[in-house]
Amino acid sequence: MGRNEKIVVFDEEYDRRELGYYSTPTFISTFITKKMLEINPNGKSALDPCVGKGEMIFNLYKSGIKIDGIDVHNHCNHKYCNFIQNDFISFYKEKKCDLLMDQKINLSYDYYIANPPYNCHEIDYIKDNKKKLNSLFGKIGVHNMYSMFISSMIDCAKEGSIIAFISADSFMTSRMHNPLRKQIIDECAIHYILLCPTDLFWDQKADVRTCIMILQKGKKFQQKIKTLNRPKNKDLLDLLLHKEDFNESNLESILNYSGKDQFEFVIDMPIEIKNLFENKRISDLFKCLTGISTGNDSKYISKTKKNGFEIPFYKNPGNKKFYCENNGFIANNYLEIDKKIKNFMVRNKSYMLKEGITCSSMGLTFGACYLPKNSTFGVNSNIFCSKKDIWWLIAYLNSSLVTYIVRGLLIRSNMITSGYVSKIPIIPLSEISKRKLSELASTSYKKKVTPKDSILIINKIDKILFEELKFSKKIETDIKHFSSNLQATV
Ligand SMILES: C[S@@+](CC[C@H](N)C(=O)[O-])C[C@H]1O[C@@H](n2cnc3c(N)ncnc32)[C@H](O)[C@@H]1O
Repeated sequence: MGRNEKIVVFDEEYDRRELGYYSTPTFISTFITKKMLEINPNGKSALDPCVGKGEMIFNLYKSGIKIDGIDVHNHCNHKYCNFIQNDFISFYKEKKCDLLMDQKINLSYDYYIANPPYNCHEIDYIKDNKKKLNSLFGKIGVHNMYSMFISSMIDCAKEGSIIAFISADSFMTSRMHNPLRKQIIDECAIHYILLCPTDLFWDQKADVRTCIMILQKGKKFQQKIKTLNRPKNKDLLDLLLHKEDFNESNLESILNYSGKDQFEFVIDMPIEIKNLFENKRISDLFKCLTGISTGNDSKYISKTKKNGFEIPFYKNPGNKKFYCENNGFIANNYLEIDKKIKNFMVRNKSYMLKEGITCSSMGLTFGACYLPKNSTFGVNSNIFCSKKDIWWLIAYLNSSLVTYIVRGLLIRSNMITSGYVSKIPIIPLSEISKRKLSELASTSYKKKVTPKDSILIINKIDKILFEELKFSKKIETDIKHFSSNLQATV
């Protein structure tokens, strides 16, 4: 434990949510250890910094590797490791604080293996230690436990050590994790990035998109990267890991740049799609903005229009496309409330009451609807452009192509923030296509098309876009297949 560190104490009746405990399925740990030992057959020692009940380490133990297992909680009688009850972040801090200038931590372990704690919320640990964690992690940030674990393992590792983990995969694309991605590519070779199916932890009541990553400290070890796009389910993942049915990519082809020094990890992105990102993005051409957060919707938003609450408020079209009802009516004096109430915030005031496009903020699919004049909008993304661009842009945003870009490539969490929406590339379209798209979108809006009926419209939109893009039939089919499967689950 760090010298002046706050001790993290857990009750006997500990809370799975706080500890972020989800057991790794055996076929995953078996695969990971097999690969670690293939990359370096001569290692002697390993660290699992969040060992739990030892789910990850059994195969390493069987192979004669000496293992240290750290965990903040003692979950069992540990037979396969030298168990150290400690907070790994404090352990890391202690190692880091003992260094002289420019010295590296370089722990002697040959392997790091982990399923870092997964918490979908900011846990008390981060809230209580924010200041100290901020100074320890600097640019990497203290957004969640797994990103701090990944970063610390990389920092602790000596040249050549293998660092393997299964973790939530939001760090692959989310903006806030760009510094972690940079740490990974600046300091490590990437051997495997395999996306796991969403049902992997369902039996433990966790709905989390995860990935397996196997790294090696030191850029000189970089060879081809083995990748796997997200399989449909757990059984298929098991089969593919057994068959080792992976694609092989260069480092460059898994990096999708979206600005100076900003990039995401993308898996198996066809070159035609990758090229689309060379085009201007939404934020290069239009305004992509968030609006009002009330801090208390039930107080400031009325479900029905009534005296004092007469301005339509839109906050999430969800699975609706083209047309959606407003989500209620905001208090008429919302600008005055903004001045008086601390957590009632009106961002981008000058865009309130203007017509535009309102986009989904949450959910599996992605939809864009017309935002009528004289309305207000919430913290979802809203796009403002000239009148002539509104309708073709709504059609484009509701296409299977954009669903595929948003849901298949850019965003791996349920939240669709304006940061992501701003990154959607805008493909160049002929005036004729724009006219046809505008017609389709404005008619669908007037007809108040339902999500079910919108499928026919989207087919027509796709046809127009595919004619312009001249993609291969395979890509067209993949895009349509991806998008219609998402639609079907809604
Ligand atoms: C996702 S579980 C993984 C358990 C097991 N290693 C596995 O792979 O199935 C995360 C583990 O991290 C532990 N943990 C949570 N916070 C920790 C911390 N600050 N330091 C060390 N371990 C921690 C939890 O007690 C839990 O055992």
